[in-house]
Amino acid sequence: MLPYFPFGQQFNDKMGTMPLTNRDRFIDVDDHYQSEVALKRQLLQELPAYYFQSAPVQDLAQWEVVDLILNNLASAYPDTFRLQCEGDQWLWQNSLLNEETSFTFGDSATLPYAPLDWVGRQLQEDLLLLSGDSANLVAGQLCFGNGWSLDEKMGLPFWEIHAPINPIVEPMMRSAQKLMERLPAGKPIWRLNWSIKASDQLDMTSRHTPALNQHLNDCLPDINAENAGDHLFIRIERQILSRLRESKAILFSIHTYQNLVSRERSERPQSASLISQVLRTTPEAMLAYKGITPYFNHLINYLNTGTITN
Ligand code: HEM
Repeated sequence: MLPYFPFGQQFNDKMGTMPLTNRDRFIDVDDHYQSEVALKRQLLQELPAYYFQSAPVQDLAQWEVVDLILNNLASAYPDTFRLQCEGDQWLWQNSLLNEETSFTFGDSATLPYAPLDWVGRQLQEDLLLLSGDSANLVAGQLCFGNGWSLDEKMGLPFWEIHAPINPIVEPMMRSAQKLMERLPAGKPIWRLNWSIKASDQLDMTSRHTPALNQHLNDCLPDINAENAGDHLFIRIERQILSRLRESKAILFSIHTYQNLVSRERSERPQSASLISQVLRTTPEAMLAYKGITPYFNHLINYLNTGTITN
């Protein structure tokens, strides 16, 4: 079952942001930790410059992320992660990976990778850094992006990252931009994003778009109202925005979760009707943007247990 379920009574055109409280996990370590971290590391080894990029002057922000994340992991999962700090000499122990790393905090030469790149290899989340008045994307480790890549968005301000903005979500995006400008340090917020996919491939960065489109075309003839739930996956992103205290940059972390529609349906009572209600109230342009249009009717019919609609 998905740990988060963003389907309510209808399509929500609001930001859906909530304060991240002390009870909420900042970094989520789940049963997929080992496989997802291994996949991340494999991708980073194959195409390092595609999956990790940074503007040259982001050292302070990158180290703040190391500090934030390691301290969070060590306090949220004390049996799994351990952090010992003696002045600038830090020792990080990760028992899930059976790894130990000692380094001098603030000295990038003592880590095997850039600080953001190194710390990103300790967790399942993608990590992005935005900086300046217009919140430009200045650094990131993005392995599980949903239809985008660092190559396309690096350097762009928040507004242009989202361009062209669909008129349906324009008011939401204006509020989001204000929120980015005003987000105070130490008061992180989170939101969920959702989509429905014909594949559960985690790495959906743009280099895979042609192959994923081909896969969809190949599966489409097999999808019908009886089996749509066995072909389609719910893909959820839990996104957290945190302002860093010293650099004032914003850390944007994304944890991607997925589940087969039929599995979610059997595991979570009411999920079929809630997903159906949201899909039926989602504007057509948004369905098209999310790539759901080609199987929309079959999916709705499946969720409504087989009633045929057109
Ligand atoms: C409160 C903050 C944010 C809100 C409300 C928001 C909202 C949205 C919405 C509505 C979409 C359209 C897709 C969908 O709904 O499935 C989207 C796409 C996207 N968002 Fe955000 N977003 C936020 C923060 C960010 C940040 C900080 C980044 C930084 C990298 C980002 C990067 C993207 C990208 C790359 C896309 C895909 C754009 C494309 O199709 O090229 N978002 N976002």
